[in-house]
Amino acid sequence: MGVKLLHLINLKKLSGEQLEEVVDKSIEVKCAPEKYLKVFEGKTLAMVFQKTSTRTRVAFEVGMAQLGGHPLYIDWRTTNFTLTDIYDETQYLSRNVDFILARLMKNSDLQRMAKAACVPVINGCDEKYHPTQAIGDLMTMKEKKGTLKEVKMLYVGIHNNVCNSLIEGCTKTGARITTFTPIINEQSRDNELIENAKKTGLWETTVDLKRAVEEADFIYTDTWIDMEFFKDPSFAREKEDRIKVMQPYQINKELLKDSTGYLMHDMPIHRGYEMSGDLVEDHRSIIYEQSQNRLYSAKAILLKLMEWR
Ligand code: CP
Repeated sequence: MGVKLLHLINLKKLSGEQLEEVVDKSIEVKCAPEKYLKVFEGKTLAMVFQKTSTRTRVAFEVGMAQLGGHPLYIDWRTTNFTLTDIYDETQYLSRNVDFILARLMKNSDLQRMAKAACVPVINGCDEKYHPTQAIGDLMTMKEKKGTLKEVKMLYVGIHNNVCNSLIEGCTKTGARITTFTPIINEQSRDNELIENAKKTGLWETTVDLKRAVEEADFIYTDTWIDMEFFKDPSFAREKEDRIKVMQPYQINKELLKDSTGYLMHDMPIHRGYEMSGDLVEDHRSIIYEQSQNRLYSAKAILLKLMEWR
């Protein structure tokens, strides 16, 4: 492709065609993993984690190993990133590796990291965006429907980082997305992203949850509390308030009684909160398959970023 892409901070720098190329590559990698066994021999992916993770870490660590490369897990707390300027440490780090995946608290730190790095920086989820999750989700949707064009997603929950990246991902690839989000995470607000999405005519908000559920091909929900606040005592009151506001909008069998849509969740799941526990393995649920697809989409992200360098 003509556009020089170095970093994956969000999906803004990717054209719709490029994004769909990554989605298609994810499906290809899943079908023919043997084709890619040694492509990253001698290459290293640094994985810097300031926050907890299961899927993002496993997908990229296993993915890089399966591509023949070396994944280097770096727990932020055990490094000198804690003592000094992220810019200088990244200058050093990027001279020793071929990619950096970083899960940081603040997007501003990730932007600073990207500014310093001479290799692609991939956002492993910050307070504003979760682009690698959205790419895996688009892959899952395309696998199920054969296309993304005019496919209808409904997102129910907090307008957060995942919601932002789903709005970007759907509207760039021709999918329709409706959001039902009684609460907006202030720290996730991105007016530019919202304006861009509005211009496509593919994103709408709704207050009619019942109708939106009936019309959706995919019904997606996520945690009501961001991971860094989940066990934070200073967030306990806010957590309680959010549960009160959101509990009536839980995804459960009663809400889904007239729905044939697939059920999605990026995990970790909080059974009994954003979703009733009995739905996790319901026949409409594709949640575990969706999480498995993180591996193939992680590989595709690395392959396409290398190709576009
Ligand atoms: N969905 C997701 O990013 O999972 P982890 O937080 O476990 O990486």
